[in-house]
Parts: sequence; structure tokens; C-alpha cells
Amino acid sequence: MRKILIGLIALMFITAFVIAQTDTTQSDEQQRLAKGKELLETKCSICHSIQRPLNKNYDQQKWNKVVSKMAEKMKNKRLGELTDEGKGLIVNYLVNAIPPKK
Ligand code: HEC
Repeated sequence: MRKILIGLIALMFITAFVIAQTDTTQSDEQQRLAKGKELLETKCSICHSIQRPLNKNYDQQKWNKVVSKMAEKMKNKRLGELTDEGKGLIVNYLVNAIPPKK
């Protein structure tokens, strides 16, 4: 009886651990997407509406180029800077959050 009880408790801990693990990986990605969205809405709306990027259906490689180009414009006009991390978050959001258009 004791062994079964210990076994059950161990199983509960393992289950809780596995659930906690999957939860954090999911919300990590959700957090990255939320940050990317926020950056896009604040930084990419300075010169034009965010519909400009949201209307495009670029792949990751193209977004890397466009976002770098935009960050360059922003810096040249002294409108602030985007860190590499910030650019990465925006690209991640654009790649994952825009539904493909035909
Ligand atoms: C300093 C002002 C400025 C900021 C900030 C800015 N843009 Fe732009 N953007 C422009 C201008 C000017 C154009 C049109 C000329 C061109 O295409 O280079 C443009 C055009 C675009 C285009 C269409 C042209 C293409 O190459 O596909 C996209 C998409 C775009 N911007 C996305 C973004 C994103 C994403 C951000 C945020 C990372 C951003 N922009 C921030 C000035 C800006």
C-alpha cells in the first residue's frame, strides 16, 4: 500500500513537472510574439501605418532585409534605434502572425 502511494505521489510530481515545462515553452513563444507585436505597433508606425508591413506576405529572409532597412531609416532620421533583439522579435512576429495572402 505504501509503495503504491509513493508511486502515485511520484507520478503526480512528474505530471506536474511535464505540464509546467510545456506551459513555459508555450508562453515563452507567446511572450516573444507579444513583444514583437508591441514593437511593430510602436516603432513601425512612426513613418507609415502598420498596414504597410501587415499587407505583405514576405518570408523570413525578406523580412530580415526590410526590417534592417527600416531600422536604418529610423536611425538616420534620429527617430530612435532598434536593437538586434528588437529586430528579431519584429521579424518573428511578422513571419508568424501574418496570415498568408494570395
Ligand atoms: C524612418 C521612417 C520609417 C520607419 C520607422 C519605418 N519605415 Fe517602413 N517605410 C518607410 C518609407 C519611407 C517607406 C517607402 C520607401 C521604401 O520602400 O524604402 C517604407 C516602406 C515600408 C514597406 C514597403 C516597402 C518594402 O520594402 O516592402 C514595408 C513592408 C515597411 N516599410 C515596413 C516597416 C517595418 C516592419 C517597420 C518597423 C521595423 C518600418 N517599416 C518602420 C519609412 C519607415
